[in-house]
Amino acid sequence: MIGKDIVSLEQFDKADIDKVLEVAAKMEKAVRSGENVNLLHRNIMASLFFEPSTRTRFSFEAAMERLGGSVLSTTGFTFSSISKGETLPDTIKTIERYADVIVMRHPEVGSAKIAADSAKIPFLNAGDGVGEHPTQALLDFYTIKKEKGNTHGLKIAMVGDLKNGRTIHSLVKLMTAYDGMEFCLVSPKELKIPAEYVELMKKNNVKFVETDNLDDVIAECDVFYMTRIQKERFAKEADYKKVKGCFVLDNEILKKAKKDMIIMHPLPRVDEIAVEVDADPRAKYFDQVENGLYVRMALLALVLKKA
Ligand code: NCD
Repeated sequence: MIGKDIVSLEQFDKADIDKVLEVAAKMEKAVRSGENVNLLHRNIMASLFFEPSTRTRFSFEAAMERLGGSVLSTTGFTFSSISKGETLPDTIKTIERYADVIVMRHPEVGSAKIAADSAKIPFLNAGDGVGEHPTQALLDFYTIKKEKGNTHGLKIAMVGDLKNGRTIHSLVKLMTAYDGMEFCLVSPKELKIPAEYVELMKKNNVKFVETDNLDDVIAECDVFYMTRIQKERFAKEADYKKVKGCFVLDNEILKKAKKDMIIMHPLPRVDEIAVEVDADPRAKYFDQVENGLYVRMALLALVLKKA
């Protein structure tokens, strides 16, 4: 992966994914044992977040610091020359003169590809609008493997806004590289997964069902991946209000679930997982947050050729 960009999960085959997970596990071990991982000493990561972020930005920045590197960052368009009319390629061609790797989140689908094509240094997509969020999918999969071991035969429910949720899009792409997982796609009719992902699952002979009823799937699944209704992607407030609060996971519903099911969420949550669920040992969403650090350490080290 030396010198590579990470734009979409499409570019990863099973061997690449396994490699990332293997290095992430080493990073986890090192961080947990207090070992000094100085692999990226004197390297600089430019962190450009033109959309809101808490976990993705902090974990990327913490990852770079933990690897002994340092971070230059900007958030929002206001304080960047983009607000003066500079194009994205010009911004990227400027920033690469000061940094060794660029991480960017941007509201437009396809912006990650444009930026990656403009950059001579490695570029990592931290979310491009409703497109993809490849590093999140890798940390989600790391979490699933860590919690469940073998993924063959797992039934995975993906619930909520499957239309606009970029974490879902990347996770589906990732998981179709592996055999034997089944998907239960639960969403209101308006927020079904886009046709291209349905085609992809069919092409890869992935077993899946689509439903708008949680009760159809809750008792069977091994992994329950909840997502937020992506309010900011709706053109009309009224359309958002129609689907707001459509699924809420609480202790009552969880009584129907398997005892060893895991509950995941990329976060932030709004109202789709009741706070009472946090105390349930099946809740893994804050562990996902931590795993993001290890996976992003692995990715930075791999593209900068130090792992
Ligand atoms: C997600 C995102 O930004 O796509 N958050 C994240 O990166 N952990 C999910 C979301 O915003 O709902």
